[in-house]
Order: sequence, then C-alpha cells, then structure tokens
Amino acid sequence: MRQPTDLISLDGQLDVTLTAAPTSVPWGSGTRFALTYNGTIPGPTLRLRPGDTLNLTLVNGLDEPTNLHTHGLHVSPDGDADNIFVMIEPGAQRRARYELPGDHPSGTFWYHPHHHGTVARQLAGGLAGVIVVADGLDDRAELAATTERILVLSDPPIGQNVSVLDVSPQQRMMGREGPRQLVNGQVQPSLAAAAGSTERWRLVNASASHVHSLSVEGAELYLLASEQRRLPQPVRTGSVVLTPGQRAELLVPLATPGSVTLRSTAVSRMGGMGGMGGMGGMGGMGMGGSGGPAPGTISDLLTVRVTASGTTPAPIPVRLGPADSATVPSAAEVVRTRRVILGAMGMGPGQFVIDGRRFEPGRIDIEASLNTTEDWQLVNASMMDHPFHLHVWPFRVLDRSDGLPPDPAWRDTVNVPAGQTVTIRIPFVDLAGTTVFHCHILDHEDLGMMATIRVV
Ligand code: C2O
Ligand code: CU
Ligand code: CU
Repeated sequence: MRQPTDLISLDGQLDVTLTAAPTSVPWGSGTRFALTYNGTIPGPTLRLRPGDTLNLTLVNGLDEPTNLHTHGLHVSPDGDADNIFVMIEPGAQRRARYELPGDHPSGTFWYHPHHHGTVARQLAGGLAGVIVVADGLDDRAELAATTERILVLSDPPIGQNVSVLDVSPQQRMMGREGPRQLVNGQVQPSLAAAAGSTERWRLVNASASHVHSLSVEGAELYLLASEQRRLPQPVRTGSVVLTPGQRAELLVPLATPGSVTLRSTAVSRMGGMGGMGGMGGMGGMGMGGSGGPAPGTISDLLTVRVTASGTTPAPIPVRLGPADSATVPSAAEVVRTRRVILGAMGMGPGQFVIDGRRFEPGRIDIEASLNTTEDWQLVNASMMDHPFHLHVWPFRVLDRSDGLPPDPAWRDTVNVPAGQTVTIRIPFVDLAGTTVFHCHILDHEDLGMMATIRVV
C-alpha cells in the first residue's frame, strides 16, 4: 500500500504549494486519467500541530475553475483563510493562510475542491488529501508505538480522458459512484506487519457519494477517534460506517501471524444506515443509477500479511485522558433551537434544497451569535439519506429519531437518514465569519443542497 508524501510543519509553520492538474496515474499495468494535487492520489499529507499556521498556495492547472477547502479544520472561513466563496481561474493561483487555534482538536482532516457546481466531479477525479493535527496525546507511548497509516477511500470513474468525469443527470441525482473501492488510489493493496504490533489507521471517506460500512476480519477493531477529537477511550467495535466526508481513526492490534483484511460493505442511501438489511426498502430501487455497487456488496479494501515475531501486542490504552473530551454545553446554555429541513419530497432536481431553497452564495440563510450555543433539528424530508456537514464549528449529536444511540464523538458530518430527524448541539465558539453547511453527497451539494451561515 502506497503512502502519500508527508509535509510536516516546522517551528509552527507549514508552507506548501499544491498544484491541481490532470494527470495519468498508475492503473493495473497501465495508466488512467485522473485529477491530482502534485501528481499523486491522494495528494500530500499535511501534518500540523495545534497553534500552527498553514500557508498554502493553490495553483490551478485544471481547465476549469477550482478552489480548496480544509474540511473539518476549526479555522476562520473568511478572507484569505478557508474561504470557499473564492474561485481560482484556470492558470491562476491563490495563497491562503490558515491559523489553527492553540487548542485545535487533534484528528484526521482533509482538503478537497469546493467550487459550487463541480465539487463532485473534481473530487471523484481524484483531488483530495489528508491533514493530520497531532497533539501531545499522540506522543503518548501507547499511541506513539503504533504504526500509523493514511487510508483514503475513493471510487473514481475509470477511463483514459477527461470525458470520464461526465455523468448522467440520473447519476447526479443519485450521487455518482464508481465501479471499484480503492485505498490510496489502489485496488486492494497489501502490506506486511509483525505480530505484536498495532496498526493505527486514519481513514477518510473521500468518495463523492459512496457509504462504507467497514469491518476487520482476523483481528480486533477499536475506534480511537471520529471526525473531531479522540474519544475519551478507544471503543471496541464490530464495524464503523463512514459517509462521504467522514473520518475514523482505528486501532487494529495484530495478535497472531496470518492474514487480516479490511472489508467494506456498500450501504444503502435510501434510509439504510440502520443496518445492511434489504435493498433500502424502496421496492428494490437500491442505489440503482448511481453507477456504483448494489447495497450489501462486499469489497476487500486492504490485506495485512501478519508475520511472526516474539512480542505480544501492546495493550490498547484504556483512557486517553480528560483533555480529549471537550465539555458539551448544557441545555441551559442553548440560546436558540432551529429546524433545518434537508431536501424535499419528489424525485426531480427540485428535491435538492435546504429549507426549500437552493444555494445562493450572496444570501445569508442563518445568522448566529459568536460564543453562543444552538441546537439544530436536522429534518430529512426526502426519500434519500443526506449526510449533513457544517464547516468550522464541530458539533455533538444529541438525539436521533431512528433509534440509533447518539454517539459520544465530536463531529463535523453526520448522516440524516431518509425521513428521520437528527438533533445536534453546536457551540459557535472562537471564530466568526460566513461559510456553509451542506449535504456531503457532493452531487447533491452541486445541485443546490447547500446554505450559508454567518456567525457574528
Ligand atoms: Cu468536505 Cu463543505 O466539505
Ligand atoms: Cu467541510
Ligand atoms: Cu444528499
């Protein structure tokens, strides 16, 4: 399994130039057409610490406009920072400056294009890379002793020229999917590791629309972190569902020699997050028309050949410490409760709205006050699942109408299943500015399922 190049901050600064350009990338014994940052899939990994400044120059070598978003980072959305309203013309470049607060959450974040109308196309083409924010806890012996790897999941269209990025109106409405589930651009790569070692995988679901249910055959699986901050302690689990945009850090202790497989089951996006059962309960519609595999299809993503060694696995840390679990504001601190309606009934393009409206960059849809907390009831009024994503301010899931337990993780993306309501609590702390929230099925976002928020 390939690993992307690491670009590591030094003395609080990281200066990088990313060039987005059409590229021939390795595919089997030949090549295929892709869009890349700096020529590779995924792009370089940007490694930062809380308090660092990232100076990033984006060079647009594509023949269409693009821009860049640092998904999940708690940084200013305005001016020359994480401003997704700017557009960079072909041949032009832009320098951005991202200042991470000194208490920025640790975790696995990522960068991708965010030019409204072509986000799904450019991401599916291959434009994505990982941002790691490591803090003092990452230096603790139990975590430092693990073998860390980046795993970027994608399902690009496979072809020889740019026309492979064109999809049908039906695929845009369903959310485009590709034929194969790749890790770091490779089909079922493998790696070797010694029994007694512990793998630590930073996974990013960088597909435009595909939802993975991930499990591990041949070893135990622990969830160490989700989108934002580590869990107070690693949790043993059977499977982890990742919608587009979501991340997970997994610990996999390799106890005995043999073979360990990371496996993905395709999840229905028609109200199917609760389980693998059925084809989505939509009379067999499944994800027909997306271009991807039917729900329930199993793909082996990665094989680990575990070789013999004399050591026994280091214990999984039982506590990662109170520093990890930032306090959730109490109900008494909530100044406002809103209902946000995702989508509308019907199967036409008119269903891709938020509160009945399509995205309009110049309009402010929601205004909130800096350093206040709000509860949002995310109501999915449509027949398809919509993974809700908010820029800049992480939130907690408080309540779900579908009976799944609210989870103990800070998130920036949460699935709202068809017909269900998910209630989240958002502390609008530290940073003011104007940005967006949207469905992370990126074709839905491109079709208009995005809205603006201004925090003042
Ligand atoms: Cu990952 Cu607004 O995006
Ligand atoms: Cu984002
Ligand atoms: Cu959607």
